[in-house]
Amino acid sequence: MTIVKREISITVNGLLHAVSVEARMLLSDMLRHELGLTGTHVGCEHGVCGACTILLNGRSARSCLTLAVQADGAEIETVEGQGTAEALGRVQQAFRDHHGLQCGFCTPGFVMTITDILRNHELSGDDEIREALSGNICRCTGYEHIVDAVRALIREKDTRP
Ligand code: FES
Ligand code: FES
Repeated sequence: MTIVKREISITVNGLLHAVSVEARMLLSDMLRHELGLTGTHVGCEHGVCGACTILLNGRSARSCLTLAVQADGAEIETVEGQGTAEALGRVQQAFRDHHGLQCGFCTPGFVMTITDILRNHELSGDDEIREALSGNICRCTGYEHIVDAVRALIREKDTRP
C-alpha cells in the first residue's frame, strides 16, 4: 500500500518547520516524533486528560484530537516555548513556587491551559479557576497547589503596571 504524505508548514514556538506527514498523523505525534518536542505529553489520546494541550493560533487545543494537516499554516506554542530549566517561564515558576506538581506528567498541559487563561480570560474567584482547569486531569496533587499557583499568577497580572 502506498502511504500518501502531505507537506505542511507550521510555526512552532516561533520557528517555521516544513514537515512531511501522513494524512492521519496526530499533531501530538508530529510534535513529539517529527520535531522531537516531547514536552507535549500524551495520556488518554481521547481528549479527556488534557496532557497534550498546546496553543493553536493562541488558543488552547488538544493536540491528540487535531490532525497535523489541520495545523498547516498555524502558529503552535508548546511547553518548550514557555521557558527553560535555567530560566523558567512565569507559569512554570508559579508551579515551582506553589508546589503545583509531583510526577509532572500533567504539567505541560496545565502550563499551556493556564497560559491561555492568563492571556485570554478574566477569572475572578476559585470557582472560575477550577472550572477553567477542569479539562486537565492530575492524579498526584489534589489540585489545591495548582489552584494556588493560578491565584498567584492572577494577582501578579492584576498588579502589573
Ligand atoms: S492525551 Fe490528549 S487529552 Fe489526553
Ligand atoms: S503531577 Fe502527576 S499527574 Fe499531575
